[in-house]
Amino acid sequence: MTIEQERKLFERIPAPLLSWYETHKRKLAWRDEPTPYHVWVSEIMLQQTRVEAVKDYYARFIAALPDIRSLAACEEEKLLKLWEGLGYYSRVRNMQKAAKQILVEFGGKFPETVEALKTLSGVGSYTAGAIASIAFGQPVAAVDGNVFRVISRLTANPTVISEPKYRNYLETELSKVYPKGKRERSAFTQSLFELGALVCKPLSPACESCPLSGLCEAKKRGEQKRFPVLPPKKAKREEDVFVFLLQTPSGFCIRRREKGVLKGMNEFPSEPQQGKTAEQILNEWGVYAFTERKRENFTHIFTHIKWNITCVWLETEDAPFDTYSLAEIEETVSLPTAFKQCLKIITD
Ligand code: ADE
Repeated sequence: MTIEQERKLFERIPAPLLSWYETHKRKLAWRDEPTPYHVWVSEIMLQQTRVEAVKDYYARFIAALPDIRSLAACEEEKLLKLWEGLGYYSRVRNMQKAAKQILVEFGGKFPETVEALKTLSGVGSYTAGAIASIAFGQPVAAVDGNVFRVISRLTANPTVISEPKYRNYLETELSKVYPKGKRERSAFTQSLFELGALVCKPLSPACESCPLSGLCEAKKRGEQKRFPVLPPKKAKREEDVFVFLLQTPSGFCIRRREKGVLKGMNEFPSEPQQGKTAEQILNEWGVYAFTERKRENFTHIFTHIKWNITCVWLETEDAPFDTYSLAEIEETVSLPTAFKQCLKIITD
């Protein structure tokens, strides 16, 4: 399709999509009262995480930190605990930085323009577009994976979606077809997400219930699954690591990671194996007398790395790091999923 043909097609999206959205939209907490703060928190959570998984986190986060001021003032461990299990923890650290920016640089008032929004820590063109359109009713597109899928199918566009020029093109062209009226603009952004989530699904597009199926070039060609064109997947690097559940009379050892993946997060003390035995590593920490209770293997997949974890649970009188009771680990200490899952060794 030529660009001109794509533009013509884009103009025909809003009317049928908006009327579909009004009857099919899901009831989601962040839609009840779409303040900039609510939209921002939900969009950051939704960036790498499914709607179903986000629901409870969102409710808990907003109850604990209802506004910019409380987020800016939140103690780090409490903040990370609210995010525990969601992954990509830099997201919430950046949110706190941005909350402080809003207080200092914008007098506590959420900035409204895309340009100003993009100066906030962790806010790129997608999040800025989502806030500007959903919360402020501006005619600004927010292009996420759902939108790439819906639009690349509609136009049978073979551009690889990781190409920055494709994102820029869609942001520019979709923004031009935004409807009039703040409520309609807010709904239009969300209707594109909603169609991608409920109908134009990655593996099983439900074209028979799609309000745009009559316009869809991929459907016409019977090539829905060829789009979007994704970049080739990179192989993950694998790493063998030991994770130690060091049980001492005062609880389990936990320390802060100084480098690598999950830098700055808590961990049960861990080390890459690199040909060393568990005992050698324990000796390096000054732990010489210990009783091994159990070993179990776990895996954890990060974006670029796969960890093959050998978890070693042992009892010792020596505590080379700070210790915490199981109750504290459950209730106050934040622990990424890669480590939290190792607690299963105790109950298995
Ligand atoms: N995916 C990304 N943002 C979304 C939103 N606001 N509602 C539903 N799904 C989404």
